Amino acid sequence: MQTSRGKLVANFAAVILGGALLAVMGVVFTTSNNPSPMTPAAPAPSALAPGSPTPSALAPGSPTPATLALATPEKQAPLKPVLPLGISPQLYALAVPPGREPTAQLAALGEKLFKDKRLSVDDSVACETCHDPTKGFTDHRGNSATSAGVQDQHGQRNAPTVLNAMFQASQFWDGRAATLEDQAKLPILNPIEMGQKSPGDVVAKVARIQEYSDAFKSLLGRDLTYEDIAAAIAAFERTQYSANSPFDRFLAGDPRAVSEAAQRGWALFQGKGRCGSCHAFNAVSPLFSDQKFHNIGIAAHKQNFAELARKALGILKTGDTKQIDELALQTSYSELGRFLVTKNPADIGAFKSETLRNIGITGPYMHDGSLATLWDVMDHYNKGGVANPFLDGGMQRLALSEAEIDDLVAFLFTLTDDRFADFNKAELARQTSLKNNRPQRETEIAEGRKGDLGDAGITPDLRNPASIGAY
Ligand code: HEC
Ligand code: HEC
Repeated sequence: MQTSRGKLVANFAAVILGGALLAVMGVVFTTSNNPSPMTPAAPAPSALAPGSPTPSALAPGSPTPATLALATPEKQAPLKPVLPLGISPQLYALAVPPGREPTAQLAALGEKLFKDKRLSVDDSVACETCHDPTKGFTDHRGNSATSAGVQDQHGQRNAPTVLNAMFQASQFWDGRAATLEDQAKLPILNPIEMGQKSPGDVVAKVARIQEYSDAFKSLLGRDLTYEDIAAAIAAFERTQYSANSPFDRFLAGDPRAVSEAAQRGWALFQGKGRCGSCHAFNAVSPLFSDQKFHNIGIAAHKQNFAELARKALGILKTGDTKQIDELALQTSYSELGRFLVTKNPADIGAFKSETLRNIGITGPYMHDGSLATLWDVMDHYNKGGVANPFLDGGMQRLALSEAEIDDLVAFLFTLTDDRFADFNKAELARQTSLKNNRPQRETEIAEGRKGDLGDAGITPDLRNPASIGAY
């Protein structure tokens, strides 16, 4: 928890200096608006132009990782990002570590690997199976709460989107991977995801596929390693930013980009709904996430934390991410969340405040996929979450009326990138049709007539932008 918080705070501080720093270095970034809401510039590698400065220009003196020591200088040219409205060049520069800037070839290779089922033990599952680019990089299952890997084995967790993952302080619901590279190495080896037995097996299999062994050899001038596979996939993921939404256009000055209901929802989000305290949003935090871990009571649906934590401590070895990966995905210890990583009791049942960008199309919701619609999510928050000894202090009953809940949901549906506009509309219709089935709704508690979960928040003054956090 401390590490990622520290890292993020450092990032934010650095962002403020970022503009000046980049100006000094003479870096020119292009920011583009979408030509049309329906045909946005999907940041596929091909849509990006090579030609911005070399990695070493961004961090003079920092060693280029061996995996990316590419064979010729042209191949080393990083892609010039065509950034969406909601992402600043400064943030992009901070999110892409020196020496890890995607190049056209590496990102294209990574995309191929991301979509290739042969990466799994029995050729049946690709990264794309659970992170489908046409479905907002999630699996969007209608029939089960959690994702399925080889031989249709279901794990304990719901696949989050890969869109904008590059900007996160850590990866996974519990932050157990620090970088995209570290993250990519785990699902390939997880027994219920892609099922490979060892990095050596993966390398041998990929190297036997001529197009890959040739491509890596031409890029690197040597045989490929497991690190290279992860580096290529991460390079592809670093082209998957997504922040051209109606809400971005609203903030950029178009008052008609979102409905009045959504505008009221935005005020509620920052005010009475208390969402912004964890789903932090401002110019330097565009993901609607504080990148920290909170127990909001989702895991409390089914667990006796104290006993589970005691048992987990008994079996956890120190610092073995692979073990944590297997406990998190395959066992009921999953519900301990961040605690599996830190062993800090304050982190029991705590999960990352996920990004809310593209949230309209990335259901089902929460780490365990237990909430089917955004109305269910609102009902969960409205009653102050599910009580448990580790519940975050920020969780209180909200006393939102049904009309206010509708406004908040309308707002959340404006956070979807324009390239998924049709899908977003279909999802809104689908979720609306489920609106009368509300397993999480407990109005008595939400309105304070039952239970004891603290006071409702304030209603901000809409005429004063500062009071809703817009500046
Ligand atoms: C069987 C389904 C499945 C496959 C295959 C899979 N993932 Fe995932 N992915 C998940 C689930 C489930 C999570 C969340 C797990 C957790 O947090 O414990 C996740 C998390 C992630 C995250 C973290 C996102 C965040 O917001 O923290 C990234 C990035 C990611 N996967 C990329 C990949 C890549 C790259 C591959 C292929 C090498 C891959 N995934 C293969 C299901 C899958
Ligand atoms: C105390 C911190 C906190 C507050 C306050 C909070 N959230 Fe969350 N939010 C989280 C965390 C942590 C998760 C992931 C929890 C889990 O999966 O167990 C989450 C998950 C979500 C998700 C699901 C994300 C996904 O990809 O599945 C949505 C939607 C969401 N929150 C919306 C809201 C809204 C709307 C509000 C205000 C009414 C709000 N949140 C208030 C911390 C918070």
